[in-house]
Amino acid sequence: MLKGKVGIVFGIANKRSIAWSIAEAWHRAGAQLALTYQGDRLRDNVAELAHGLGGNIPIYPCDVTKDEEIDNVFKSLGNDFDCLDLVLHSVAFAPKEALEGQFLETEREAFRVAHDVSAYSLVAISRAALPLMTNGGSIVTMTYYGSEKVVPHYNVMGVAKASLEATVRYLSYDLGSRKVRVNAISAGPVKTLAARGIRGFSSMLTYHSEHAPLKRNVEIEEIGNTGLYLGSDLSAGVTGEIIFVDCGYNIMGM
Ligand SMILES: NC(=O)c1ccc[n+]([C@@H]2O[C@H](COP(=O)([O-])OP(=O)(O)OC[C@H]3O[C@@H](n4cnc5c(N)ncnc54)[C@H](O)[C@@H]3O)[C@@H](O)[C@H]2O)c1
Repeated sequence: MLKGKVGIVFGIANKRSIAWSIAEAWHRAGAQLALTYQGDRLRDNVAELAHGLGGNIPIYPCDVTKDEEIDNVFKSLGNDFDCLDLVLHSVAFAPKEALEGQFLETEREAFRVAHDVSAYSLVAISRAALPLMTNGGSIVTMTYYGSEKVVPHYNVMGVAKASLEATVRYLSYDLGSRKVRVNAISAGPVKTLAARGIRGFSSMLTYHSEHAPLKRNVEIEEIGNTGLYLGSDLSAGVTGEIIFVDCGYNIMGM
């Protein structure tokens, strides 16, 4: 389904990362991939995962708060490949203390960092990717329902996800004429490294599974498959959308 396509993936920390499930789905469908890692701490993990996919998968360092690192990723990508079709942005961060107490107590710096890493980075990455996306393509990001409704402890991350979702709509408007689509997957809770930073995450999993119409939590492979749909021509007419993969949790009123 993705034969002949080239994709770059931001946001793999380990094999439990949502980014990894989408990368695997893209790889299985025939895409050639390049992966990025946040810093030396994560390089070995990502190198091992890349190696496991076989072939020669380049990995590039990228802290998304640093414009020069983003530029270097796309310079390297331009040297390694002729063009780019798929971009996965699966990156978010807020200081731990901002995900514990009341939202009211969010400090200016925590607010800034959460928005810089979790929302602005999509703008920076999309702009840097565009010169290589000469045949159009698909940009996919990850969001969560805490952008729309209050989820206790999600706090500033919910506000950053609201910004990310608006960013998806504005980018899809700007990039539509270049045949580049931009969409977000709004996933139900999955136990990952980032999720463990949210206080009360285990009770969130239980609550979701009890109240979602499907009476269970989402499987990470289901998110990977939606990533595949959004990366492929099956979703050719879809842009600017927030697609829920949450076992239906978001439709419930009571
Ligand atoms: N796990 C969930 O329940 C859930 C639900 C909905 C949405 N999401 C979203 O999915 C995305 C991926 O998270 P995950 O749950 O797979 O956790 P994860 O910890 O596996 O992935 C988060 C990634 O963000 C990267 N990152 C953080 N700061 C960065 C920076 N400055 N520069 C570059 N990379 C940086 C980390 O290195 C990591 O790879 C996030 O946007 C998250 O908000 C997660």
